[in-house]
Amino acid sequence: MQPMQPPFLPWRERNGKLSPLKLVVFVALFLPAAWTAGSFLLDALGPRPLNEAIHQIGLWTIRFLFISLAMTPARQALQWPRLVLVRRMVGVAAFSYGVIHLALYIGDQSFNLWTVASEIALRFYLTIGFIALLGLTALATTSTDAMIRRLGGRRWRRLHQLVYGIGLLGTVHYFIQSKLNVWEPMIVAGLYGWLMAYRVVAWRTASGRVPLWVLAVLSVAAGATTALGETLYFWLWMGAPPVLVLAANLSLETGVRPGWVVLAIGLAFTAAAVVRAPSKTIRLRPA
Ligand code: HEM
Repeated sequence: MQPMQPPFLPWRERNGKLSPLKLVVFVALFLPAAWTAGSFLLDALGPRPLNEAIHQIGLWTIRFLFISLAMTPARQALQWPRLVLVRRMVGVAAFSYGVIHLALYIGDQSFNLWTVASEIALRFYLTIGFIALLGLTALATTSTDAMIRRLGGRRWRRLHQLVYGIGLLGTVHYFIQSKLNVWEPMIVAGLYGWLMAYRVVAWRTASGRVPLWVLAVLSVAAGATTALGETLYFWLWMGAPPVLVLAANLSLETGVRPGWVVLAIGLAFTAAAVVRAPSKTIRLRPA
């Protein structure tokens, strides 16, 4: 007789045991959507509730996407292999929030699918968002155990490298629709740079170990590139004198600029890695 398989429940491990980590993450992933839905029902989303809901859910789409991109560095640098248990869940959440984001947009267009399709075809930032969502769909639908087995580990991993391009498209979509207020998209772009630079370092490391000082250097470089990127943006789009913008970016007098935030996040991550890794190196592959 075949042994009984435990029913598939997202908060259980493969052996059927309850995983507190999976349970906490599973519940947490619903909270932003529940908050937005509750605020909508209580009429607390301002004069254009549907548009506000599109914004809130769009923000969580990109946040979950970036959290899933940060899983591999976090797993390696913080020596926390169990994070792999929730990576798929967070990725699927990014996809689900992307679908809700599109559904809300369709609702905002009075369910006129012709208008939705022509807007997506004609507005560059919507076209980019749509391509990013198609990419997320490809990743989510190939995330089941059966699909991983069918594609084989190597092909599956290559397909899932699409996530780097999707992260870039999501960032550009966010950037363009933000128009003048680019404070948070700048931070997202800087963190994207950090995450990609980390991948390049990891790919090029033959020894399988990365010294922790490399993380600190990546953080300083990502912070400085973000400050330069913001300077370039205001110069090219608004003709603001680059020297003045850069000076304002580097001083803290005009508030905490994105470059500082990216630097602080990178250094906080490095500090956590220092505490977790007594050998002061990151082991990229399990021993
Ligand atoms: C068919 C796909 C998509 C459509 C039609 C769409 C549409 C929109 C619209 C209409 C807005 C608000 C723009 C405004 O009010 O001026 C928006 C904002 C946004 N979208 Fe999308 N989007 C799509 C896909 C995505 C994807 C895949 C992501 C993330 C990876 C994303 C992330 C965002 C973010 C972060 C914002 C800005 C939120 C804010 O600043 O408050 N969108 N999107």
